[in-house]
Amino acid sequence: MLTLVPEEIEAYAQDHSTAVPPLLAELTQATQEKFGGLAMMLSGQVEGLLLQTLVASIGAKRALEVGTFTGFSALMMAAALPDDGEIVTLEISAEHAAFARSFFERSPDGHKVRLIEGPALDSLQTLEGPFDLVFIDADKAGYVDYYEAALSMLSERGVIAVDNVLWSGYVLDPKEDDGRAIAAFNDHVARDERVSHVLLTIRDGIMLIRRK
Ligand SMILES: C[S@@+](CC[C@H](N)C(=O)[O-])C[C@H]1O[C@@H](n2cnc3c(N)ncnc32)[C@H](O)[C@@H]1O
Repeated sequence: MLTLVPEEIEAYAQDHSTAVPPLLAELTQATQEKFGGLAMMLSGQVEGLLLQTLVASIGAKRALEVGTFTGFSALMMAAALPDDGEIVTLEISAEHAAFARSFFERSPDGHKVRLIEGPALDSLQTLEGPFDLVFIDADKAGYVDYYEAALSMLSERGVIAVDNVLWSGYVLDPKEDDGRAIAAFNDHVARDERVSHVLLTIRDGIMLIRRK
């Protein structure tokens, strides 16, 4: 799992956080078996619980996710939505989408999840807000565009959460395109007078953003 936190502290945090339900533990293991090293993209227990807590504390009814992968974070957020709530999740890979769908079908919260397959930027143009919680966790080159689209659809009390904003620490001196894209995104938000934001040093860095 991607984390800047020392391993034993991360393990302590996991031990002292609510356990994930059996279906999500199975999803995590199945993701590791099928996707090997790519499984590190799965946000995991601590970040998933943070997103779930945000959904619950905002009283979110509609959520949006950019980057489904195998569905872990979508199901964590779905669990805190009301029974008639909805999370729209966007995924470009047919293989990831099919895997995620197989778990959405088995989940008691699966009826709240709507997966849209295709490039996120195209899918975002078909959506109408408002969304109460938006989680951005896809290709880093798209972060500024996803953020602008998300902000335009954000409800008054809404929050945008953005993953990997520390990029394993490389934001300090980015040496490749993804690192430069993340650093540019962080600067874009820092200059944005419309919003209040906090960069949390949880896992690989999570930026929380809300309207001023
Ligand atoms: C970091 S993973 C998402 C992890 C997931 N949120 C979780 O916590 O389990 C990023 C996902 O974004 C998808 N992705 C990459 N570029 C995309 C794009 N342009 N549009 C939609 N999805 C994209 C990838 O296929 C991958 O499944």
